[in-house]
Amino acid sequence: MAIRAVVKGVGHYLPDRVVENHEFEKTLDTTDEWIRQRTGIERRHFAAEGENTSDLAIKAAQAALADAGLEADDIDAIVLATSTADLTFPSAATMVQAGLGMTRGYAFDVQAVCAGFVYALANANALVCSGQAKRALVIGAETFSRILDWNDRGTCVLFGDGAGALILEAQHGDGTPADRGILSTDLNSDGRFKDLLYVDGGVSNRSTGYLRMQGNQVFRHAVDKLTSTAETALDRAGLGHGDVDWIVPHQANIRIIQGTAKKMGIPMDKVVVTVQDHGNTSAASIPLAMSVGRQSGKIKSGDVVVTEAIGGGLAWGAAVLRF
Ligand code: ACO
Repeated sequence: MAIRAVVKGVGHYLPDRVVENHEFEKTLDTTDEWIRQRTGIERRHFAAEGENTSDLAIKAAQAALADAGLEADDIDAIVLATSTADLTFPSAATMVQAGLGMTRGYAFDVQAVCAGFVYALANANALVCSGQAKRALVIGAETFSRILDWNDRGTCVLFGDGAGALILEAQHGDGTPADRGILSTDLNSDGRFKDLLYVDGGVSNRSTGYLRMQGNQVFRHAVDKLTSTAETALDRAGLGHGDVDWIVPHQANIRIIQGTAKKMGIPMDKVVVTVQDHGNTSAASIPLAMSVGRQSGKIKSGDVVVTEAIGGGLAWGAAVLRF
């Protein structure tokens, strides 16, 4: 017997404003063609003035609750991954708690940039499996548009805003790979690479700052580290490549997504891809893709899903779950 954190519901929210690649041609030395070819991105959503990360997160959470057929007070814990919280404190998670009208339980943020959702999922899984929460709401939500330097064509065309949410519930399993729920997680970071991707401001520096990235250097690490963490997680789950129904990768760049799938020997028709419509939404990208994959009928109950991400830190990780 084992306690498993089983997915009860998934939901997402994207802000109304859609920005096509062509819009950047007006102000930057770039083209729709360059952005598509180098990244796979065609468009992204940007939050409206006054629309903050917690606003997006609340809407995604409400969609996940509706999908699960649950009320806010059925939730014991909110774990929210973000690098773009509304305020320095309190956490965006407590804002979501208030916004949902949830009067019990506890809520906190996790910050691991683009790997944030995998980190949040691993933490929520630990809370559920150790009996500290019967039901956990795990959210990835970002407004990266607020930290983009609109004069830097190497970064500002890559990112978007959005939120995705997933509800986990404690259920008894047999402790075998046939169980539903989270079967394994794998987390890694290596701070020696902190200068490859960072924001050049912060509370301690009395500023907000802008995202700075040595994109080609991050790219060099991505495929190897993503493949290795996904394979570690699969191994830990007692599963092999042939058991994988879907990869739901972090959506940073189609070439990284394709490279990782190829290295794992998994065909692209088993990969959920949303980067063309969302851009890189950092911690929100995986739950957004999971929700789209679920709504489109691709991911079905019983399917084995591998999810993997890498981002600033560098921080990276993977999780294997059976829906
Ligand atoms: N339009 C036109 N040209 C551009 C643009 C643009 N928007 N951006 C960069 N270029 C130019 C560069 O200036 C460079 O020109 P040069 O050769 O004259 O100097 C040329 O294109 C090639 O630049 P590279 O950076 O080498 O291009 P690359 O093929 O590596 O693509 C990209 C850049 C898309 C950023 C890629 O490196 C990438 O996706 N990296 C990984 C990003 C990532 O996964 N980040 C982690 C998650 S994000 C997070 O954690 C917040």
